[in-house]
Amino acid sequence: MTKKYRAVLFSQQSKSSLWIADAMKIYFEVVDHLDIRKVEVSLSTKGAEILYEGKPVEEYDCIHVKGSFRYVDLLRAISTYYEGRCYNPLTPSAYTIGHDKLLTHIKLHPKKIPMPTTYLVPSTQTGRKILDKINYPIVMKLPSGTQGKGVMFADSYAAASSLLDALETLRQPFLIQEYVDTDGVDTRAIVIGDKVVASMKRKAVEREKRANIHAGGKGEACLLDSHTKRIAIDAAKAIGAEICAVDLLEGLKGAVVIEINLSPGLQGITDVTSIDVADKIAKYLFKKTDERANEGAESSTEIIQEMDQDKHEIISPLDFRGERILLPEIVTKITKFTENEEVSLSLEKGKLKISKF
Ligand SMILES: Nc1ncnc2c1ncn2[C@@H]1O[C@H](COP(=O)(O)OP(=O)(O)O)[C@@H](O)[C@H]1O
Ligand SMILES: [Mg+2]
Repeated sequence: MTKKYRAVLFSQQSKSSLWIADAMKIYFEVVDHLDIRKVEVSLSTKGAEILYEGKPVEEYDCIHVKGSFRYVDLLRAISTYYEGRCYNPLTPSAYTIGHDKLLTHIKLHPKKIPMPTTYLVPSTQTGRKILDKINYPIVMKLPSGTQGKGVMFADSYAAASSLLDALETLRQPFLIQEYVDTDGVDTRAIVIGDKVVASMKRKAVEREKRANIHAGGKGEACLLDSHTKRIAIDAAKAIGAEICAVDLLEGLKGAVVIEINLSPGLQGITDVTSIDVADKIAKYLFKKTDERANEGAESSTEIIQEMDQDKHEIISPLDFRGERILLPEIVTKITKFTENEEVSLSLEKGKLKISKF
């Protein structure tokens, strides 16, 4: 494989980001790793510019922009600036949505992605009415915040009511959520494109309910069933992120999504699964950048096409996602099938025919 393309990683230079930048250097010809705290977006009569330590940044074929919720406006500004100019695994709005649990739940809901019953509460007055009718225990959460720090548990009206009074001083909307009993265990799935590439369960330490590694939680590799994988992949897609971590709780009613993390720490998951997640991210970034560069051209070497007027024969290996068969992208292009279209499937051993219904 020849190294090609110019890529940039904007980050806060955490260890995980250093791993990703190093892995990207295996595939890309140029990899710049820029500290997001030294970036400025300049808008003047000359137009928009991204400056790094005061100098304009160059053009790239691929950007990956990471950072905590504190930098959400900057993350979105950078990705908006580069929109359409190069490959970015996240849409600009993904930053705003993914870093806000309120918006995340609003986005997941219409896609019917399972999540705990959640109330979005604009004020403590509305909150008190909910406390009257809800079953306990409950969880109260601030919309942004990570590492378990904005998450509070209340096992009675009295406990919830005093939390509500404390929240009043912050004067910001928050979430009231059904408590999903998993004995302090949550599930983290790393989604890259349409695959879950690594997953682990984290168990809260004794006396804690939050399973975050930063709250002392202990991780253990796990395999997810195809249904849970599907939920994680759909959740990532719903918010416009091709690379992210999806946090789930597997309670009595099945897996529910509680959060999407756009800049997940990689140390914990790499340690417990022995999967080189940074390499998987880098490889995916390269593959997608290459696909973008070759758009319109026939890029897939695995596909041999024999064309006549309106019939196409494709010889290709089959790709499975769990138990499901994934057909190559070219099938969608040629058949022009669209999502939600009714089709009839006629099946027999070794043969499959899909026709418009
Ligand atoms: N509805 C819930 N029911 C039970 N436990 C929860 C619930 N929501 C969160 N938790 C626990 O709290 C932890 C942190 O919550 P999460 O929503 O992921 O916020 P953070 O952004 O702080 O990680 C989760 O990993 C889980 O262990
Ligand atoms: Mg979390």
